Amino acid sequence: MRRTVLIAIAAVLAFYSIAFADNFPSRPFTIVVPFSAGGPSDAMARILGERMKMALGQPVLVENVTGAAGSIGVGRVVHAAPDGYTVGIGHLGTNVANGAIYKLNYDLVSDLEPVVLLPSNPMIIVSKNAVPAKTLKELIAWLKARPAPATAGTAGAGSGSHIAGLYFESATGIQLQYVPYRGTGPAMNDLIAGQIDLIVDQTSNSINQVRAGTIRAYAVTDAKRVDSAPDIPTTDEAGLPGFHMTLWSGLWVPKGTPKEIVGKLNAAAVDALNDPAVRKQFENLGLQMPPPDRLTPQALGDWQKAEIKKWWPMIKAANVKVD
Ligand code: MLT
Repeated sequence: MRRTVLIAIAAVLAFYSIAFADNFPSRPFTIVVPFSAGGPSDAMARILGERMKMALGQPVLVENVTGAAGSIGVGRVVHAAPDGYTVGIGHLGTNVANGAIYKLNYDLVSDLEPVVLLPSNPMIIVSKNAVPAKTLKELIAWLKARPAPATAGTAGAGSGSHIAGLYFESATGIQLQYVPYRGTGPAMNDLIAGQIDLIVDQTSNSINQVRAGTIRAYAVTDAKRVDSAPDIPTTDEAGLPGFHMTLWSGLWVPKGTPKEIVGKLNAAAVDALNDPAVRKQFENLGLQMPPPDRLTPQALGDWQKAEIKKWWPMIKAANVKVD
């Protein structure tokens, strides 16, 4: 008798979750951006959301939940209802590095369901225009000759711009004084205003300012130049061979979100990534599209685990202090 009741309950639950998934989405859903508006993660979420709403037939809201290098925003997604209506955008910093720096009250792998790998971009070394250097070699010499460390804007300890800064320090022997913001959007404003000296930034955040001449670029951290910014040399060409770093992003939902709903969100995101107009917007920002065979939820999950293996030792060795 007891067994029959349990089977009946399971059947009803399965029925409702399928019915629920069939009916998804029946109202607007939210993409949580763990950094400030106007920055690279925000820009990517808004471009993607604008196109995903066409595939899903419901408006997409963007909510900026900032702080602690994105770990607060990711926590908001972890603790949200697993119903598909809360989707988190994240990246190498928020969904890999932060696990090696912060005592998080969640697990980056087991408390989130991967949805899709998003475009990536090489980092770019940029400074305020007042810096007396025109090449990467001159910049490094200037940084080494300074009595006090130069100031470098970041989106917090563990963010992409911070991890890239640590990597730049370890690759050159320079020292940097990090200035944390709630995103590289506001950090960029201070760089343009000359309040800070440099950012090791995501290309997508700096490229329009470089084009406008409001900041100076020295190199992109990749073996090949960015198609939409052919004048900016690679680190290999600029005298720092092998200094390569690409910041990838992704979408995640809370653990326990029905597979059918993850599938619908994945399909809508892939649809958006295949849209020529969206691709053009992303490529113009220096973003590189993920390979078509790596657009499954599984592919993002596997990649995240591989990146955790790769980056945690370096990050832990850097012994990053957080308040
Ligand atoms: C942002 O959107 O502000 C960035 O993703 C921050 C970063 O990680 O550097």
